[in-house]
Amino acid sequence: MAENRGAVALVKRLAGFPAGDCCGESLTAPTVERETLRRLVVGSGQRVSLGRAISDDWPRIGNLLERSKLSPDGLKPWLMNTIVGLVGDEVVAVAAFEMYGDAGLLRSVAVIPDLRGRGLGAELVRMVEVLAAERGIGRFYLLTETADDFFSKLGYAKTTREALPAGMAKSELLRHVCPVSARVMVRDLK
Ligand SMILES: CC(C)(COP(=O)(O)OP(=O)(O)OC[C@H]1O[C@@H](n2cnc3c(N)ncnc32)[C@H](O)[C@@H]1OP(=O)(O)O)[C@@H](O)C(=O)NCCC(=O)NCCS
Repeated sequence: MAENRGAVALVKRLAGFPAGDCCGESLTAPTVERETLRRLVVGSGQRVSLGRAISDDWPRIGNLLERSKLSPDGLKPWLMNTIVGLVGDEVVAVAAFEMYGDAGLLRSVAVIPDLRGRGLGAELVRMVEVLAAERGIGRFYLLTETADDFFSKLGYAKTTREALPAGMAKSELLRHVCPVSARVMVRDLK
C-alpha cells in the first residue's frame, strides 16, 4: 500500500506536463534540474533516487543499456517517458515507454548487476506504468528475449506479435532491434 501511495504521489507531481507532449509528437526530455520523485534504500544501504530522466542523462542511460545488452536505439525521443534510478551521478536503473495512441511500448528496463534482485527493476516498471496511465495509456506491450519471468511476476501475460497495435510497427525497437524470436507480453494498466 505504501508503494501505491508513492506511485499516486508520483502521478500527481507529474501532472503538469505541457499539453503538446502527450501524443508522442513533441516529446523532449526536460533540461531543467531533476526532481527526485522517490528515494529507496536497497541492498546494503545504497540510496537510490528515482526521477524522470533529463537530457543530460542520455549518455549514461545509453551506457547502462549497452552494458545490459539492450539497444538504446530509438529511445532518445522518448526520454520524457523515462525514469532513472541514480546513486550520486551514476544511472543505476532505467525504464521507459514509447506511446502509440493509447498503447504503450514498455522498453529499456535495466538495473546494474550489483543492484539486481532487490526490487529496483519492479519499482521502476511500476513507476513508468503509473506515468503512462496518467498520460492516457491503457495497455502496455513489451518484447523480451530474456526476462519473461520477471515481467510475468509483474502481471504481464504472453501474447503474439500479431496482437501488437498497428501503429507500433513504426517503432525502431520493432523494426530494427528486437528479433522476431522475442516474446511479446501485454498488461492492461486500467
Ligand atoms: C530484468 C531486470 C531489469 C530485473 O531487475 P531487478 O531489479 O533485478 O528485478 P527485481 O529485483 O525488481 O525483481 C522482481 C522479481 O522478479 C524476479 N526477477 C528479476 N529478474 C528476473 C529474471 N531475469 N528472470 C526471472 N525473474 C526475475 C526477482 O527474483 C523478483 O522476484 P520476487 O518478487 O519473487 O522476489 C534486470 O535483471 C536487468 O537489468 N536485466 C538485464 C536487462 C533486461 O534483460 N531487461 C529486460 C528486458 S527490457
